[in-house]
Amino acid sequence: AETHYHNFVVQETTVNRLCITRNIITVNEQFPGPTIAARNGDSLVIQVTNRARYNVTLHWHGIRQMRTPWADGPEYVTQCPIMPGGTYTYRFKIENQEGTLWWHAHSRWLRATVYGALVIFPKFGSSYPFQAPKVDVPIILGEWWNRDIIDVMRQALFTGAAPNVSDAYTINGQPGDLYQCSSQGTTKISVNPGDTVLLRVINAALNQQLFFTVANHRLTVVGADAAYNKPFTTNVIMVGPGQTTNVLLTADQPPSRYYMAARAYASARNAPFDNTTTTAILEYRMAASGSSTPLFPQLPAYNDTATVTSFTSQLKGIQSLAKVSTNIDENLFFTVGLGLVNCTPGPTCQGPNNTRFAASMNNVSFVLPRRTSLLQAYYQNIPGVFTTDFPPSPPVQFDYTGNVSRGLWQPSFGTKLYKLKFGSNVQIVLQGTAIFTTEDHPIHLHGYHFFVVGQGFGNFNPRTDPSNFNLVDPPVRNTIDVPVGGWAVIRFIADNPGVWLMHCHIDSHLTWGLAMSFLVENGHGKLQSIESPPPDLPPC
Ligand code: C2O
Repeated sequence: AETHYHNFVVQETTVNRLCITRNIITVNEQFPGPTIAARNGDSLVIQVTNRARYNVTLHWHGIRQMRTPWADGPEYVTQCPIMPGGTYTYRFKIENQEGTLWWHAHSRWLRATVYGALVIFPKFGSSYPFQAPKVDVPIILGEWWNRDIIDVMRQALFTGAAPNVSDAYTINGQPGDLYQCSSQGTTKISVNPGDTVLLRVINAALNQQLFFTVANHRLTVVGADAAYNKPFTTNVIMVGPGQTTNVLLTADQPPSRYYMAARAYASARNAPFDNTTTTAILEYRMAASGSSTPLFPQLPAYNDTATVTSFTSQLKGIQSLAKVSTNIDENLFFTVGLGLVNCTPGPTCQGPNNTRFAASMNNVSFVLPRRTSLLQAYYQNIPGVFTTDFPPSPPVQFDYTGNVSRGLWQPSFGTKLYKLKFGSNVQIVLQGTAIFTTEDHPIHLHGYHFFVVGQGFGNFNPRTDPSNFNLVDPPVRNTIDVPVGGWAVIRFIADNPGVWLMHCHIDSHLTWGLAMSFLVENGHGKLQSIESPPPDLPPC
């Protein structure tokens, strides 16, 4: 195993997009940021220097951070932010994960432009469970905003989603041919006829689930998040924010140029969204002429939930990492959804009828501490920072996905953690609600990956639904897109001590409070305990 060293400088950089020149925050003046490549079993040492004018932290999305929660990154959860002028070195090891992950800023909405791929090759001396690809490229889907992202965030926080629709989607930072002033920069992937191509599709968009497809080519899905799956072929994939999907294609079509394209999957009934399409070009090196218009693929309609369901239901794991636990120690039931709270009209209260959005899990809208991080508060026994009374089930039961009155639930605000004993077998039912609107929520758990043992529509039925659970070959993920108006069930073993955020990876929902945190207590002895904090951990 090797150790890879990187220097990341967070700084302002001038870029041109959509006919506008502006400054964005980048890492090393690259947008998207540098790709980190390593093998399973390697270690990473990434020194981050903050030369921007905002506080920042970086998160290594999907890396388990076994016993190194100090390197996880979410601000005020596992560390205080790196202030302008400050530095912090993230040190961690990649253990039993192969495939595609990514890294991104975990401070307010800075991840809009601060992100990059984290590629994990097979362990030294081992190979892929499929034909090794000739071409291997990250395809990072993103969202572009013409306005300053912190302004966009403030507007979302105090009003609603409506004015916060992005100005473009992007592939590897480029909107592509269908947008103005964009064809020069369009991402191009060159292949030779017959090549096997591995596309590592990452959804780094702030607020949008996306369909992705390639004209004329079938996609073979071989991995999701950082786990392999039983290969299956499809024309289109859907990737939720935070998720990654590895697909293989064979360059077996007439040598030419073909568009790859991504566009919104928008399941909410009346939430506005960016309706445009981002493109990149798959070009065969032997193609007759570079001037021909590439062939355009078919994309599903924005609300095509049936296509999403048939895609996700084909995902089956090939894990030999761990067996799915059948004895459940912690059987948790969390609602996930949006709601409104009443507020006094003013600059911070601009939603419909004197309300503003407040998203919640089990009716608790999550509030980050401001004085220190949750992990430091736990580790150093600082009182008054959090409580451990996050409810294991909703305070009231009702028809979650039915026609419910908004007045039923006014969420409370709090920094509530749920305590898990080291080694406990955990099952969580994630139940979508219809209190404000129904939509699918990409729920991400830090510090873990989990089995997705079941999902469905409507209200989870504890008597009948478990009999359909897949305990044989469930997929392993770190982010589950809970179906619109439905539920998903995940299982994991709490074998990684620390404080771990679980949240919706739609940044507007996270800002509104769609989050909670687990406190996984130390087990016995050194190997089951949190390592000591690094000396350069940013001061609070
Ligand atoms: Cu990719 Cu808490 O995030």
